[in-house]
Amino acid sequence: MGGQGLVEQLKIHLALWLQSMRLAKYLAHAGVASRRAAERLIAEGRVSVDGETVLDPARAVDEENRVVVDSRVVSGPETRVVYAVHKPVGVLSTARDTHGRPTVVQLVAEERRLYPVGRLDADSSGLILLTNDGELANRLTHPRYGVPKTYRARVARGPVGERALQALRTGVQLDDGPTVPARVRRVSGDLLELTIGEGRNHQVRRMCEAVGHPVLGLERVRLGPVRLGTLAPGAHRRLGEAEIEQLRAAAGGEGRDRPDSRGGRRGGGRTGGHVGGRDGRSGDAL
Ligand code: URA
Repeated sequence: MGGQGLVEQLKIHLALWLQSMRLAKYLAHAGVASRRAAERLIAEGRVSVDGETVLDPARAVDEENRVVVDSRVVSGPETRVVYAVHKPVGVLSTARDTHGRPTVVQLVAEERRLYPVGRLDADSSGLILLTNDGELANRLTHPRYGVPKTYRARVARGPVGERALQALRTGVQLDDGPTVPARVRRVSGDLLELTIGEGRNHQVRRMCEAVGHPVLGLERVRLGPVRLGTLAPGAHRRLGEAEIEQLRAAAGGEGRDRPDSRGGRRGGGRTGGHVGGRDGRSGDAL
């Protein structure tokens, strides 16, 4: 083979390598199971590639391979989509409700199966993301990455004083432990903007309650790089590729999965839920 032919071959190999992904991730993207459950299916010998049982979850596969799970052929991964939705008060942020109440998923007409990224209380409103990318959803909600979420809270017993603000910034004691420092800004006497990296149940409501200002109304205005902006309640917009990449970067920074990738965080960055400067004080959140 001449030099030119070799270069062409290498280019083809490189292109195929870039298009391939780990078997476990391939199954997760195809909607067969979560990444963990896919790894178990593989370990149990229930997955074959081109007729051969594969026990290695890191085996590189692409759309040319015939992947079979329990004699069912798995079709290639779906296009990944992410929607930003303005959840109105009263709508649930679950995929399905056993009592037939309205859910955020019903707000978007999309044939792909979408899942909410994290939760907002039924009586909270604002930005929630929906996606069919389970891996991205897991990362965005995993405490390890502490993806910042910004809320606007209308509180009772205003105006909120400096002591309460400072307590929120440094951390307040909740029944499941102290909160890590948050960014907190008083927009007006009874309106606060809080940015937290944690995502515990009813966290903002409990934080405000703990400093003597129960929440009257709560809206999420930002999640990582995505803002609620001017989306009307009940409306949605599909994120573009650039925004999805920014989200991926915020949630651990991994782009495409390569055959040798470990699925962990690359580079430095946050490891906890801490946001903000040393005293959690900041002007505009993020
Ligand atoms: N914190 C809360 O208390 N409620 C929400 O819905 C979101 C964050």
